[in-house]
Amino acid sequence: MRKKIVAGNWKMNKTIAEGLQLVDEILAGSNDDSVLKIIAPPFIHLAAVADKLKSKEGFEVAAQNCHQAAGGAFTGEVSAEMIASTGTNYVIIGHSERRTYFGETNQLLAQKVAMALANNLIPIFCLGESMEDRNANVHLETVKQQLKEGLFSLLPADFSKVIIAYEPVWAIGTGVTATTHQAQGMHNFIRSEINKKYGKDISENTIILYGGSCNAENAKELFACLDVDGGLVGGASLKANEFLAIVNSF
Ligand code: 13P
Repeated sequence: MRKKIVAGNWKMNKTIAEGLQLVDEILAGSNDDSVLKIIAPPFIHLAAVADKLKSKEGFEVAAQNCHQAAGGAFTGEVSAEMIASTGTNYVIIGHSERRTYFGETNQLLAQKVAMALANNLIPIFCLGESMEDRNANVHLETVKQQLKEGLFSLLPADFSKVIIAYEPVWAIGTGVTATTHQAQGMHNFIRSEINKKYGKDISENTIILYGGSCNAENAKELFACLDVDGGLVGGASLKANEFLAIVNSF
């Protein structure tokens, strides 16, 4: 049985006070421990949020990025070891905003994944096609390449720790969601590629989240898809009641 997960990616939103208040509101309204809730606040909130959630059943914390190097002269960057030292256990890697605005390539992301795993962080590896790719009918090829170059150099034991988030770029922050047919189709494709590379056991146990304008209205039908194990949520994770409504959508 794959774990059900709803992860809230706050992106570059919330002051520390606002963030801690949001965590309090989510904690106060949460009543379902069967769904793992992962909160991904900005770096500077991590230690405080991790501290608040450390003994809370059904909650985990994620960073939104990490650097590929172990440490050193990289002004303004944050290492996987530093993230782990806050009590954070997860890290989002390869979000499309990082790929687009910060030029992160599959090759660089493979290094980040390796560094995260070396520090016992669980990577939430994001992939997904652009609208141009989908219109040109090369979306499967794009995602296949992202999997191959970003993840498929991992040994099976390491790959089996990774969570995948399918986030079609055209659905992120646009209010346009993938249809259940599109989401299930891609999740099934990802699982079949994993099966080809790592075999049935690992592919059936890999958690694949959907992200892209996921909200309280559409989460139920998305989460009902056979290969969709939950969501990676942006905008709708910034309000406790919306986030919790999504958590309650399985
Ligand atoms: P939205 O839910 O705001 O579309 O963002 C999705 C996302 O990028 C989560 O990582």
